[in-house]
Amino acid sequence: MYNSKIIGLGKYVPENVVTNDDLSKMMDTNDAWIQERTGIQERRWIENGSEDTSAIMGAKASEIAIERSGINKEDIDFIVFATMTPDYYFPGCGVQIQELLGLNNVGAIDIRNQCSGFVYAVSVADQFIKTGMYKNILVVGAEYHSNGLDKTTRGRGVTVIFGDGAGACIMSREEDTTKGVLSTHLHSEGKYAEKLIVESPSIRHWVPQILESEEEDLSYFPYMDGTFVFKHAVVRFSEVIMEGLMKNGMQKDDIDMLIPHQANLRIAQFIQKKFGLGDDQVFNNIMKYGNTTAASVIIALTEAWEEGKIKEGDNVVLAAFGSGFTWGSAIIKW
Ligand code: ACO
Repeated sequence: MYNSKIIGLGKYVPENVVTNDDLSKMMDTNDAWIQERTGIQERRWIENGSEDTSAIMGAKASEIAIERSGINKEDIDFIVFATMTPDYYFPGCGVQIQELLGLNNVGAIDIRNQCSGFVYAVSVADQFIKTGMYKNILVVGAEYHSNGLDKTTRGRGVTVIFGDGAGACIMSREEDTTKGVLSTHLHSEGKYAEKLIVESPSIRHWVPQILESEEEDLSYFPYMDGTFVFKHAVVRFSEVIMEGLMKNGMQKDDIDMLIPHQANLRIAQFIQKKFGLGDDQVFNNIMKYGNTTAASVIIALTEAWEEGKIKEGDNVVLAAFGSGFTWGSAIIKW
């Protein structure tokens, strides 16, 4: 058995910055409400006419990750792509990455686990590497939310939190099993699927039915019971981080860097306080990018690394919670 190690990181966000004041011109909201409830100051939204999509942003982030990893594209054995906003209903974005980057005809899978998508993707890649099946795996998280949001006052509870962006990493075989990804922990609770959902178009409620509906059909916009999600998020984040620490015989103060999914700054602050972590032990960038769901953990991990906040030998914890409900953590010896 081997371990897997992250050897290259990259991110890409669209240039177009949308501030809270910009949103207040589209809907009845304001900077104070958004900052107080979520910590978000601005987010990136793909501009009309841009070439960017989830797959294209993912490819741009991947180019950087590959370059920084020092491996060649030909050395990539497999692609794992996490997104809830794919370019096509099918096929998934993973195969687009294979084409966009001109990779060998390696396998590609998409992970459909929303905010937990990147942590699930890391876990999937880790299993392939652990067994020796693959040596180098490209793991991508990318989201293009802005084209699917209700940008009227009706949608303000959800629309103000989501942003667009992508991140990627190369996970590679590590022979020293005391290094790299030490363990991953994945969970789900499908009874709450409808608490955070985009219901349509789905195969049981397809486009003609939406168009023909006599009443206004809003099932293609995200719906979130925010307070309910918040309450579950703080509990599940804590549980799954503790699960990871216990599995590796670690205590709370062994955490050198926690990268929480950027759902809401208040959730991250709650966890920080609960675990007694200092400001230098938790990384947040939701202020700049909003919630980029499957891209959020990898964008944050990349930025933390770029800013020199992650050093060799550090215990890095990734944790996420989101629609499904799904949640998970990864404990990494950097
Ligand atoms: N601007 C101004 N007012 C608003 C806005 C807005 N953008 N949105 C809602 N309001 C109003 C509501 O209408 C409501 O008004 P009322 O009291 O007159 O009815 C009031 O503000 C409070 O609304 P709540 O929804 O109760 O606000 P809450 O304090 O719960 O904050 C938030 C909402 C920020 C979304 C919060 O619930 C949250 O962060 N939830 C968790 C999100 C999360 O973790 N998601 C998981 C990941 S996402 C994924 O997996 C896809």
